[in-house]
Amino acid sequence: MLTVDNLSVAFGGLKAVQAVSLMVSQGERVAIIGPNGAGKSTLFNLISGGVRPDAGRVVFDGRDITPLPAHQRARLGLGRSFQRSSVFAKLSAYDNVLAALTIHRGHGLRVWARTTPQRAAEEALAAVGLADQRDRLAGALALGDQKRLELGMVLATAPRLMLLDEPTAGMSPEETAGTVALVQRLADERGFGVLFTEHDMSVVFGVAQRVLVLSQGALIAQGALRANPEVQRLYLGGTP
Ligand SMILES: Nc1ncnc2c1ncn2[C@@H]1O[C@H](COP(=O)(O)OP(=O)(O)OP(=O)(O)O)[C@@H](O)[C@H]1O
Ligand SMILES: [Mg+2]
Repeated sequence: MLTVDNLSVAFGGLKAVQAVSLMVSQGERVAIIGPNGAGKSTLFNLISGGVRPDAGRVVFDGRDITPLPAHQRARLGLGRSFQRSSVFAKLSAYDNVLAALTIHRGHGLRVWARTTPQRAAEEALAAVGLADQRDRLAGALALGDQKRLELGMVLATAPRLMLLDEPTAGMSPEETAGTVALVQRLADERGFGVLFTEHDMSVVFGVAQRVLVLSQGALIAQGALRANPEVQRLYLGGTP
């Protein structure tokens, strides 16, 4: 479904992403881990269209989307959330989802064939458990709820692949566990793939079927790390 082929970008002299190649299959859940500054968010920006690569290609559903702007990638089913909260603080939770939808509406999002923006917004809020917060200003929501709202904003656009940049950053352990369960359930029900970054290993191993490790802009390891005895020992406190 997604193929990243030899993607590179430098900011001045800093090689933020260096010749990264990866694939995500339909419905697959893949984590990208790595230390601060490894280039994870930059890689997401390259995939979603916020940053232009110096070299390499992004292929989605067999189509080379490297030349396309972010909104056209979103229209093809590539949804994303941001590491730093990107809700509109002075709009209600409902209006945030509606705004996210309206931004894409003119672009022929697949979702319009079967529903209205209002219904899609209500449905997305309910799906992320925020129906009762519908009319509260997003800026007044607890941080964990703001992150869930962002998830709802992505969900409403009916993506086929979700890019989530640290979806549980700043959450309490309870909120984190709730988000892991939520993402699992929604991905199961709706069949979308998830490519995400996280520092919290409980989230990584709770959601991902496969983990890629990025360091100084380059992928240094990948595979079914959950079955790797060393990873079991280091992160999971046991033997497989
Ligand atoms: N627009 C930009 N201009 C210049 N340098 C940038 C820009 N965006 C990112 N960088 C640099 O690129 C490197 C990779 O940053 P990036 O945000 O992708 O890392 P990250 O893996 O997401 O880190 P974190 O885990 O802290 O979120 C860092 O050294 C960062 O300072
Ligand atoms: Mg980041």
